[in-house]
Amino acid sequence: MIIAQISDMHIQPDRRLLKGKFDTAGNLETCITQLNALKPDLVLATGDLVNRGEREAYALLRELLAPLQAPVYLMPGNHDDRALMREFFPEHEYLFTGHERMNHVIACDGLQIIMLDSIIAGNDEGTIGAAQLAWLDTQLAAAPQQPAIIALHHPPFATGARFINNFFCADGPELGRLVARYPNVLRVISGHLHRNIQVNFAHAIGSVCPSTAVTFGLAIAPRTPFFYSNEPPGYHLHLWQPDKPVITHTVLLPPSSHINDV
Ligand SMILES: [Fe+2]
Ligand SMILES: [Fe+2]
Repeated sequence: MIIAQISDMHIQPDRRLLKGKFDTAGNLETCITQLNALKPDLVLATGDLVNRGEREAYALLRELLAPLQAPVYLMPGNHDDRALMREFFPEHEYLFTGHERMNHVIACDGLQIIMLDSIIAGNDEGTIGAAQLAWLDTQLAAAPQQPAIIALHHPPFATGARFINNFFCADGPELGRLVARYPNVLRVISGHLHRNIQVNFAHAIGSVCPSTAVTFGLAIAPRTPFFYSNEPPGYHLHLWQPDKPVITHTVLLPPSSHINDV
């Protein structure tokens, strides 16, 4: 089974370039052309679908996603508007759980992919919250032998990246302690930091997916300011088979899909 993870597409109204330089719509089109050739079983979009929660951007996102042949599951990021996601994607039934948060479990091929909404409306910081942690605990306890991948927008772990220190998931350590009780959790996958990052997270592997829109500069040394990088954007492909390790490939978009004069 192939799970494509795309993240942080930051679509702007009218195909406007992000920061006047980054072709977020064109990059997503290139990505979708690649995905249609790679034929994933499903595509998980881990938030920041649009740049500023604009109505016109969701309309364009819907157009851009239309050629995608695999089923796509949308998750909110701190740049998203849950109400507009529901308005523009009414056929995505999992967005309508009856709760404000958009949580959902995709069960396929003996794997459960648990989509966890980490958004606080109006805030860039993320949180899971006691109620959602309890919900997650219940989900995992119901099928402790079934392999699981947890997906959320905000990385629930430190990454060493200095650019958005305050924007992590505040209760990541609590999630780590919960994951530690469930050996069946194989991966905890996220977005938000616009880079390709892997960490140890309890017994599992935690990862950050690159953005299809723009890569954040590598700022690890103290006092390194935030900057946009000219590294190519990209996405992740997670390969899963029963009783085998999860394999993750990072796929970079071609250089023509980003502007090189940052
Ligand atoms: Fe983002
Ligand atoms: Fe984000």
